[in-house]
Amino acid sequence: MVRDTWATRTGFILAAVGSAVGLGNIWRFPFLTGESGGAVFVVVYLALVALIGLPVMLVEFVIGRRSERNPVGAFRRLGHPSWKFAGAIGALAGFIILSYYSVVGGWVLQYIVASFSGGYTGDTGAFFVQTASGTNAIIYHAIFMALVAGIVSLGVRDGLERAAKLMVPSVIVLLVILAVYAATLPDTGPGYEFYLSPNVDTFASDAVNILPAAAGQAFFTLSLGMGVMITYSSYLGEDRNLLNDSLIIVAIDTFIAILAGLVTFPFLASQGQDLVQDGGGAGAVFISLAAAFETMPAGHLVGGVFFIMLAVAALTSAFSILEMVVSYVVDTFDIARVPATLALAAIIFVIGLPTAMDLNYLDAYDKFANNILLIAGGLVLSLFIGWVFASDALEELGQGRGGNGGFDTYWINVVRYVVPIALLVTLALAIQEYVE
Ligand code: PFF
Ligand code: NA
Repeated sequence: MVRDTWATRTGFILAAVGSAVGLGNIWRFPFLTGESGGAVFVVVYLALVALIGLPVMLVEFVIGRRSERNPVGAFRRLGHPSWKFAGAIGALAGFIILSYYSVVGGWVLQYIVASFSGGYTGDTGAFFVQTASGTNAIIYHAIFMALVAGIVSLGVRDGLERAAKLMVPSVIVLLVILAVYAATLPDTGPGYEFYLSPNVDTFASDAVNILPAAAGQAFFTLSLGMGVMITYSSYLGEDRNLLNDSLIIVAIDTFIAILAGLVTFPFLASQGQDLVQDGGGAGAVFISLAAAFETMPAGHLVGGVFFIMLAVAALTSAFSILEMVVSYVVDTFDIARVPATLALAAIIFVIGLPTAMDLNYLDAYDKFANNILLIAGGLVLSLFIGWVFASDALEELGQGRGGNGGFDTYWINVVRYVVPIALLVTLALAIQEYVE
């Protein structure tokens, strides 16, 4: 069977950006920032994106393009089959993350409907409860998974690439419009200030929690640690400049996360909603944003646009995760794409059911998959490249750029020393917090 490839370089970049830009930027980033001390968290997060995120993205790109295989099969292809477990950690994370990602995607679909039908008029907390778990949550989780499976079953070019080319630019345009609108609202000052002016004391007093949360977010937002970027770069076919591509992808993802905060925080501040989602967790942003849309001029229209943008962003991320597991099954068992996609989507739907029935699972799944599995996945992948596969990796990184430059030496050293140490510390802190 001939393996799929991207039709164009832009198609690959947009699909990778689509994977990166998602609920992580627009929903998770603001609520984590709100929980973790505002702008201090933003600064730590940005540093970790540059120092750890970018190098690890290159680790995945090198593995994917070199092997032209899924994250598990890649290691056999590269001549190191005993490292297969590295890809398996990622695949496991993929099942868990997509299962709850889809449940939250289902909430977003319900908020779109509600924005246009007056659904969250009145008590937005009560509306959230009725949205987040139970029958509605299950039905919309199924609808969201069906959309994801529909796109993936169409294949790399006709499904993923086409969808990304249409959807990613739409998300960016809508978000810019929303940020401009937010800036025209009154009383937004405290929102911007909370978001943009760092308070070092907050960080100092809570570094033990802020650090792993920021590292987890850096990984999650860039779709790292579970082999999605291995899968996407395995469809590259010809040699391109991986360094350029990764810089573009990281820059756009970071821009969107920052921009998302310039939408949500002024929205909340101008409508007198709490900026600190203290202990409110995942749902707080939905509840307080809906309350802000309730009172804002043209709020239901603005809310509708916001949630449409969020749903589109979530879809392009969700289908990248499904693609990763589909690529494994298609490569390994020689099963056709469509049945593989439908079967895996059904399994992931079932794994998501506990979350759709009881909100408490969301936090547990999220912390375990994100702060532990993704970080462990990234750690093992980096150890492999840094210590086992370094010279081949450098050769691969030099392809399409006429050889290696000064950056490459920096990169391999960061991958060897800085990334493993940073991820080990993060993992230790995360496990300690998890066990508590
Ligand atoms: N990067 C996505 C986001 O920020 O929403 C989430 C995600 C997608 C995480 C794919 C991991 C992944 F492999
Ligand atoms: Na992201």
